[in-house]
Amino acid sequence: MNELKLFIEKLNESFANESFVKITLSKPTSKSDGLMNVYIRLITIKNQPVFSFTYHYQTNDQVKNYTFDEVRNELLELINKKFKTARLFTLEYDYAIQFSKKGKATAINFPPSFDKKPPESHDIPKKKRAELGKYLSLLGVTDEKGTVIPKMADKFKQINKYLEIIESLLKNTILSSPIHIVDMGSGKGYLTFALYDFLVNQKKMDVRIKGIEQRKELVDFCNKTATTCGFNNLVFEQNTIQKFGDSKIDVLIALHACDTATDDAIFKGFSANAKLIICAPCCHKQLRQESKGKPIENPLFKHGIFKERQYEMITDTIRALIMEKHNYQTKIFEFISNEHTRKNVMLVGIKTKEKIEKKDVQTNIDSLKEAYGVEKHYLETITDKTK
Ligand SMILES: C[S@@+](CC[C@H](N)C(=O)[O-])C[C@H]1O[C@@H](n2cnc3c(N)ncnc32)[C@H](O)[C@@H]1O
Repeated sequence: MNELKLFIEKLNESFANESFVKITLSKPTSKSDGLMNVYIRLITIKNQPVFSFTYHYQTNDQVKNYTFDEVRNELLELINKKFKTARLFTLEYDYAIQFSKKGKATAINFPPSFDKKPPESHDIPKKKRAELGKYLSLLGVTDEKGTVIPKMADKFKQINKYLEIIESLLKNTILSSPIHIVDMGSGKGYLTFALYDFLVNQKKMDVRIKGIEQRKELVDFCNKTATTCGFNNLVFEQNTIQKFGDSKIDVLIALHACDTATDDAIFKGFSANAKLIICAPCCHKQLRQESKGKPIENPLFKHGIFKERQYEMITDTIRALIMEKHNYQTKIFEFISNEHTRKNVMLVGIKTKEKIEKKDVQTNIDSLKEAYGVEKHYLETITDKTK
């Protein structure tokens, strides 16, 4: 394919004459596996030039570096196969190729978008999304000088990872302003405050965030802290998730809400037609308790530790399937490594207009329940009540 060959040649040329600025790959094909776009820049590591690829997925970013000799093969793996548009930016011109549905390439030359090259230093400090703001010291994550308290280092990591995921999810969801976000089981509000500060003060977005928490002392503390920080559109309500009555929810969040409180929160998301449901389930007791005393002939249940993990997986898989029945596309992934916390699974539902074959989804739920002796998942019980 001449256009693609020419693209690589122009890349080589811009690298050789030091006019290379960057490459962007966009318009993902159906084979892109959730990869939204790729940005490629030149950096220097140990005095050697290296092409740094940032792969933007819906929920996270991954960075991989390639030497000049490796970059060609990686581009050939991506362009046309995973992306329909590739644009090379140099100081002399921009060169783009676009592929039609049938794979026909069109090349377009543009005047250069850039008259300066970006810095090539690899040592640009990675910007933390949770700025070391006052709220972090009021919540006890940092000391008064803004240094992270050692025993809170994992929490700080978790907060930043969580913001990275939400940033990516919000980028790929169409929401009208102001965005109404409800955080159910907000606890001491670490993640609620961080999200507010990030979206309002860093991203300059118009959001209203409400934390729902049953414990009065935490609600009072969080409201006082929000006032001290001047976070005007962040409020906390003392209530149970089950009794919470607001219908305006664009984004529903429930992080480590205990046991079936996660199901109650998901259900509130369904009722409010939330565009995004983000939860990190916790202490999966319901199915395990329901199964007590029932003989289940399954070697996976022989050892206690695996039995527990199986029930966690079944609980969350059935949750995801029920979400699909409510027209959400779902993803389950680890959002922070095991070394920080075992409660590291995130379940995300993104409302979709695409048709989901509900009969097939129900068949999957039924066969899972049968195989693992599950009578009824709590989320089914509460959703069935409203039918
Ligand atoms: C483990 S903490 C998690 C706090 C916060 N989401 C986080 O991830 O840092 C769970 C919180 O959910 C609250 N909670 C549990 N069940 C609830 C319910 N049904 N209604 C309201 N709050 C609930 C608890 O009081 C607790 O503060």
